[in-house]
Amino acid sequence: MKITIENLQLRYGNFTAIENLNLEIDEGESVVLLGKSGCGKTSTMRCIAGLEEPTAGRITIGDTVVFDAAKGINLPPNKRNVGMVFQSYAVWPHMTVFQNVAYSLKLQKLPAAEVKSRVAEVLELVGLSDFAQRGASLLSGGQMQRVALARSLVMRPSVLMLDEPLSNLDARLRDRLRVELREIQLSLGLTTVYVTHDQQEAFALADRIALMQGGRIVQIGGPTAIYNEPASASIAHFLGVSNIFDCTATVGADGYVTAVRTGGEVIRTEQRGLATADDFKACIRSEDLVLSNVSGGGTNEFSGRVAVTSFQGSSIRYAVTLDNGGELDVFAPTKGAERFAIGDRVFASVAPENVQVLPADVVRQARLQEVAA
Ligand SMILES: Nc1ncnc2c1ncn2[C@@H]1O[C@H](COP(=O)(O)OP(=O)(O)OP(=O)(O)O)[C@@H](O)[C@H]1O
Ligand SMILES: [Mg+2]
Repeated sequence: MKITIENLQLRYGNFTAIENLNLEIDEGESVVLLGKSGCGKTSTMRCIAGLEEPTAGRITIGDTVVFDAAKGINLPPNKRNVGMVFQSYAVWPHMTVFQNVAYSLKLQKLPAAEVKSRVAEVLELVGLSDFAQRGASLLSGGQMQRVALARSLVMRPSVLMLDEPLSNLDARLRDRLRVELREIQLSLGLTTVYVTHDQQEAFALADRIALMQGGRIVQIGGPTAIYNEPASASIAHFLGVSNIFDCTATVGADGYVTAVRTGGEVIRTEQRGLATADDFKACIRSEDLVLSNVSGGGTNEFSGRVAVTSFQGSSIRYAVTLDNGGELDVFAPTKGAERFAIGDRVFASVAPENVQVLPADVVRQARLQEVAA
């Protein structure tokens, strides 16, 4: 079912956890709320589920307005047909897997035969058919997580919401369950809201990612667009871009953006056009910098010395201290690239198409309105 969130605001006392949040989630779509700790992801999800009462706004699920502050509408969670899976999966340890999953159906007083077939169906879906009679306390973390998921799915929710459901698992299991979750979501065509602060997880699970900062959605788009075209330097930073320089930026006569780093270097780009901002940053991914022990003499070359090297398997990470101050973070492939040692003199270069000049932050809605007024 489609979900529409309009002008949502949530305050805890004087503190605003969600500010003017607008989001439309299509039927069958998987939207991931991504952002760092405290940005308001769980709060947003709890508002949709009816576990939190927003201070303003409207939420519609399918054709039903489940919350409208102005009209005083606030449906309780059990009237919203929303399934939730939390980070801390509360699986009942004294029950078997079957009993855990069947519990809510029994509360609804469904006939035993129907309970049995519906539980069997979802256990099959999450790959736990062979564990139906196992005591829930005798399961691994990943299996418990699947029980929690099965328990939500068995209620046939029209919307499934998952709040960091994989964060208690080890990396390998997380990778696997992530793929399985995506398969289940796609095969059931479930409208899904997924919360995480892990970008890999977001990229793997999302049709669209809603990036949150400070209680607002600052960018929304497909995983590729978010990765390749972050709307601000602070979003780029959150997504793992580690070389971010203060600069002044200008569009030259040729239409291309040139940035002048504080300190003097000129950085050329292949970017055309600049967003409106007071404050710009030049952003370069570590893997887009190439190290050499000789100067190529070309543009976008930084000279310095290797300060730290660390082997990371498929790549080697270098911290380079630049001659004019500052640091560069460089990833070089382990295979085929020249190796450097601490103290080596190096020249780091970047192709103009790999430099992005971005506003430091997304201009806030309030400010935009201020400017327009
Ligand atoms: N009951 C509450 N009373 C006061 N402040 C709260 C309450 N619940 C959450 N907050 C605050 O609201 C903000 C958003 O919290 P929320 O739980 O939505 O963050 P989150 O994005 O889910 O973070 P995390 O990734 O750490 O789970 C935080 O600053 C938090 O401290
Ligand atoms: Mg949270």
